[in-house]
Amino acid sequence: MNLHHITSKNFVNYGKGSEFHEIFEIFGDGIFNSDSHNWKYQRHLIQSVFKKNIFGNFVRKVIHKKVDNYLLPLLNEVSESRTIVDLQDIFHRFTFDIMCSMVLAFDPNCLPNKLTQFPEVAVEEAFNKMGDAIVYRHLVPRWLWKLQKWFQIGHERDSISIQQIMDQFFRDRISSPGEEKSRFNHTKDDESNFNMIKALVEEGGMEQQVDYKFLRDTALNLLAAGRDTISAGLCWFLWLVSTHPNVETKILEEIREKFKTNEENWLISEVEDLDKLIYLHGAICEALRLFPPVPFEHKCAIKSDILPSGDHVDANTVVYYSIYSMGRMEQIWGNDCLEFKPERWISEKGINIQVPSYKFMAFNAGPRSCLGKNLSFIQLKIVAIALLWNFHFQVVEGHSVCPTVSVVLHMKHGLQVKITKRGN
Ligand code: HEM
Repeated sequence: MNLHHITSKNFVNYGKGSEFHEIFEIFGDGIFNSDSHNWKYQRHLIQSVFKKNIFGNFVRKVIHKKVDNYLLPLLNEVSESRTIVDLQDIFHRFTFDIMCSMVLAFDPNCLPNKLTQFPEVAVEEAFNKMGDAIVYRHLVPRWLWKLQKWFQIGHERDSISIQQIMDQFFRDRISSPGEEKSRFNHTKDDESNFNMIKALVEEGGMEQQVDYKFLRDTALNLLAAGRDTISAGLCWFLWLVSTHPNVETKILEEIREKFKTNEENWLISEVEDLDKLIYLHGAICEALRLFPPVPFEHKCAIKSDILPSGDHVDANTVVYYSIYSMGRMEQIWGNDCLEFKPERWISEKGINIQVPSYKFMAFNAGPRSCLGKNLSFIQLKIVAIALLWNFHFQVVEGHSVCPTVSVVLHMKHGLQVKITKRGN
């Protein structure tokens, strides 16, 4: 109830605040780091891009291309050579390529399609290190990291080099709005000629706010929003499925029942087919409940307030809430809250149960809820189906799986697996 109050009912009283803005400095004035008019404007603009008719087809094309031409051939080779791989690293690379393709129409090819030395891509590594730099600012007193920033030492020196690498990357990839418009000003208006920056320029290019910095900050925010979260979601989902054989069996049965295959045993699917996978949807929600990619959030009260619990919040107080803990509360999910049970999300009528977002907080709740929720489910489902249909994943014996302390819930030691090809 407190969170329903903070995120929805009294939403106007809880912004990101100046502390958030300082800690997440690298996000510039992008949507994550904005409040009031600036936030509203950006949300409206990004939402109108996501609502475009060709957006859905575009997203599916980008994902399928990367899955079919890179992820599956690579894992095929891994299975044939019986090599042990870190799935977390593979997913980081995979989602980075996908998000860059969607946002910038540029594929940095971090994920190879062969089992060779994985390329070191500076900007991808900068994104990996960004979380550590941000979490550090949460953990030490403000004066300390400010001092370190001033002297350019410790973690703050890393922040500066991360910033420089990202600045260079975006300078090479984004032009001014005018140039962006002419760069993509072709007569063909289909998915092959679409990307989010181009669409943003088309939607808001006449407005004063839309300048190079706006495009750069938006691109960075979208990349950060959609890259690490999906990668973390995939990792925890696959780990849970590979350690719960009964769930794996049920997902495969559902795919077999609801999808058609061709002679080569390739799945043939239509867009609507994804919605038919009720059990898979439940399994993904369950993984996001137990391991929410964004494990905690903070908001700052503008005026003093009293929460439904009776707790008093002074003006300018920062309120932290743990989405991770909420996913494991008996009061919300019952006695079996720690169990991985996709059935929890299926009603007696056999359809997916809709849980209010202030209870299932993985995508946040209220007016600031995640704009990429639908896109996330599409991506998670396409990848889950492709991987589970073709391969069986076995976590390497003795490999310890535990979360890391960060702004995104990654696995501390990665996800070391052996992969075997399935003979459906
Ligand atoms: C499993 C995947 C994902 C999860 C769990 C997730 C979760 C979240 C959460 C918790 C927030 C609130 C953050 C805050 O207010 O500080 C958020 C916001 C946002 N997400 Fe996602 N997200 C996911 C994927 C994506 C994707 C793929 C995109 C698309 C690029 C995206 C775009 C956004 C945007 C633009 C916002 C800002 C909304 C606002 O401030 O109004 N997300 N997401």
